[in-house]
Amino acid sequence: MAEHPAYPVGLRLTGRRVVVLGGGQVAQRRLPALIAAGADVRLVSPDATPSVEAMADAGEITWERRPYAEGDLADAWYALIATSDSEANTAASAEAERHRVWCVRSDDADQATAWTPATGHSEGVTVAVLTTDARHRDPRHTAAIRDAVVEGLRDGTLVAPHRRTRTPGVALVGGGPGDPDLITVRGRRLLAEADVVIADRLGPRDLLAELPPHVEVIDAAKIPYGRFMAQEAINNALIEHAKQGKAVVRLKGGDPFVFGRGMEEAQALAEAGIPCTVVPGISSSISVPGAAGIPVTHRGVAHEFTVVSGHVAPDDERSLVDWPSLAKLTGTLVILMGVDKIGRIAETLVAHGRSPETPVALVQEGTTAAQRRVDATLATVAETVVAREVRPPAVIVVGEVVGVGPHGTA
Ligand SMILES: C[S@@+](CC[C@H](N)C(=O)[O-])C[C@H]1O[C@@H](n2cnc3c(N)ncnc32)[C@H](O)[C@@H]1O
Repeated sequence: MAEHPAYPVGLRLTGRRVVVLGGGQVAQRRLPALIAAGADVRLVSPDATPSVEAMADAGEITWERRPYAEGDLADAWYALIATSDSEANTAASAEAERHRVWCVRSDDADQATAWTPATGHSEGVTVAVLTTDARHRDPRHTAAIRDAVVEGLRDGTLVAPHRRTRTPGVALVGGGPGDPDLITVRGRRLLAEADVVIADRLGPRDLLAELPPHVEVIDAAKIPYGRFMAQEAINNALIEHAKQGKAVVRLKGGDPFVFGRGMEEAQALAEAGIPCTVVPGISSSISVPGAAGIPVTHRGVAHEFTVVSGHVAPDDERSLVDWPSLAKLTGTLVILMGVDKIGRIAETLVAHGRSPETPVALVQEGTTAAQRRVDATLATVAETVVAREVRPPAVIVVGEVVGVGPHGTA
């Protein structure tokens, strides 16, 4: 049997009885895929791991708490034999053979009539990798091939040329705080499929350098806007390129809907009848403090965090932020776009009750090679920003969480 390669096939198990013998680690690893395939799984085992037990409790499988007994495989279409008793495994695989039930064996692949491939999924495709014959079984190698293929398909480095899926219209993609590894898998794939990318100054700019030469990369800040507002000119550029049938990605820093004007763009596209996909991103408001060793919440220290824009001063009539109320909160305050106005903001917080000794951290260009963290207090932050030449983009964190992690100032 081992001389010939295994014949790969996809089993359609919906509603069909699959018998699993043994409730240990092997069952724990294999059961989710059987459940996802809709199989009618019957587990026969005196005991089970807590995870397997939870699947039984949730009604995803039925569990008979006893050892294997002759006849268990009679009505099975497929069997997974994975008990710790090799005699029981041998008896069960003999029964499977008699009933012509395909079975995998965790303890002896040679004696099995089926092998489980290393599998992964990407965009409607299942990738399954099998060793050609039992003598050369190397599960790490097959898993590594599976990972390479699935990752490549997901992040767009492996593009199947005949079936290149393009998302019509515009994708508003949250690119994360700057580190190119911190974009989502979906965002990265859409970027790899784009004809046109309109990018902000913030976000993973390094990814733009990786795009193939035919992709048109447009710097949003440089779109001429003449009689329009800058944002209107960006909306128009998105609409015009999409109308030409191009796959357009609007690459934004952080998350599109956190001070990102993402909904304005989505609304403009909707009005123009252009399909729009929104891909969330990792917002700098949480990830940049984290990258500098600051958790925005911490047990016993802060049970809330509030994210605010500091782009207009507290006494500016355009401000929508209730700074006096924020001063009364005890949790963490995360201020975006606040470097220029931090002096007035700190003054207002102190004037309305926040202690001048409250720790403050400014994290500039977080998650990039240029990341730096500068620490201060509400009393000293205005002069510290000037003395240490802190520049945007920076996330400012106010609160006791600033002091909980191991840290140093830059
Ligand atoms: C227009 S807002 C966009 C926020 C973005 N949508 C998000 O979710 O992170 C820009 C502000 O985000 C913050 N910011 C974004 N990326 C940053 C980074 N890598 N380091 C520090 N601050 C950052 C700064 O406060 C900056 O002024």
